[in-house]
Amino acid sequence: MKLADNKATLSFSNGSPSIELPVYQGTIGPDVIDIRKLYAQTDKFTYDPGFLSTASCQSAITYIDGDKGELLYRGYPIEQLATNCNYLDTCYLLLNGELPNAQQKADFENLVTKHTMVNEQMQFFLRGFRRDAHPMAVLTGLVGGLSAFYHDSTDINNPEHRQISAIRLIAKMPTLVAMAYKYGVGQPYQYPQNNLSYAGNFLRMMFGNPCEEYQVNPVIERAMDRIFILHADHEQNASTSTVRLCGSSGTNPFAAIAAGVACLWGPAHGGANEACLNMLEDIQRMGGVAKVGEFMEKVKDKSSGVKLMGFGHRVYKNYDPRAKLMQETCNEVLAALGLEKDPLFALAKQLEKIALEDDYFVSRKLYPNVDFYSGIVQRAIGIPVNLFTGIFALARTVGWIAQLNEMISDPEYKIGRPRQLYTGSPRRDIVKG
Ligand code: ACO
Repeated sequence: MKLADNKATLSFSNGSPSIELPVYQGTIGPDVIDIRKLYAQTDKFTYDPGFLSTASCQSAITYIDGDKGELLYRGYPIEQLATNCNYLDTCYLLLNGELPNAQQKADFENLVTKHTMVNEQMQFFLRGFRRDAHPMAVLTGLVGGLSAFYHDSTDINNPEHRQISAIRLIAKMPTLVAMAYKYGVGQPYQYPQNNLSYAGNFLRMMFGNPCEEYQVNPVIERAMDRIFILHADHEQNASTSTVRLCGSSGTNPFAAIAAGVACLWGPAHGGANEACLNMLEDIQRMGGVAKVGEFMEKVKDKSSGVKLMGFGHRVYKNYDPRAKLMQETCNEVLAALGLEKDPLFALAKQLEKIALEDDYFVSRKLYPNVDFYSGIVQRAIGIPVNLFTGIFALARTVGWIAQLNEMISDPEYKIGRPRQLYTGSPRRDIVKG
């Protein structure tokens, strides 16, 4: 953090003395005004529900320029990573700050591959769930449950423990997501297969069965890998901030990541791709492309409570760069599977076209986000809609753990404890009747 030349002055209209606040500069992006001593100096808090103007931490991992529609992991544009690297390279980058050289790449892939199995006892834990449980409910439990199995890596203050738990989480998430799926459909779990890629192994654990050899389709494998890369990190979003806040108490990494999974589940965050696909299916049932105009009128009518899912973003006020890459992947997957005429894809394109020309969306700078096309890709691959957010959680685990480890290593880190503007009753006494 670099101190800027200028300072901010805060003055009050009631004659209270004004104070000067330091200003810091990042490498790119807006400067921040340091208000840490504000309360001590003025007896006042700041008020910013939803963190619209508040930087909750300093971070060197991911940068988003919402106006330009730019996303950088450790400085590298997402487009370059999605076309030149695989997901495990991206994990290495997010965790360590640099892309791996050939030896580091081989070692890291080997390390992750060797940790993909989960304790056999996890199956019995899983069996406690109803078969129709939502996979995110199951995953919240399973990920939290890992802390009961890996006692040797739960000390968040021990750098070695943090490193081992990062590898374990990245390696075991695909196994847990596939187990949650297999349990729901009543099929036997598939053990990981170490000669496959990270994405290929996940596909086999999802769609393979013990009765026949599973052939990984390279187009689907690449698409899966790209979905993982695009969802790997996204700076201080709701679930990442949840992981940081949860981890700030010193809880173990598995518990902190379970908190992230729970937060991601919501429809305004990770649940949006599920909500988006459900929305497309609803419009399709109503009559498809012919009903798009009618649906859009509902979206624009605030009293209807209907939103165009997969559109809008707190930070992007331009096209989400991940949405462009996902649209490209969508075209590739549908072509490879002979589904070019998929009606939901046609519907999505029509909705996008109308929204990008409509003043309601243009004036509010609402553009497609990554979820707009990711649901169509996943559905084409054969992933059930209620597992979409689980796939997102799998991919985001590396971002969560990288951010958590960054926070713990930061000498300025403190337990997160926001303040409030109290609007309840002042002190009063119980009146005995
Ligand atoms: N459809 C219709 N109107 C919308 C939409 C939408 N998808 N998104 C925002 N708006 C409108 C709001 O009603 C508001 O209108 P107003 O100014 O007239 O009151 C205006 O656009 C600004 O929206 P906010 O809700 O203030 O924006 P915020 O930053 O709080 O919310 C959010 C962002 C939650 C993503 C929102 O756009 C949304 O709900 N989108 C749909 C859900 C979705 O796709 N979420 C995925 C996010 S990406 C991710 O998690 C991977």
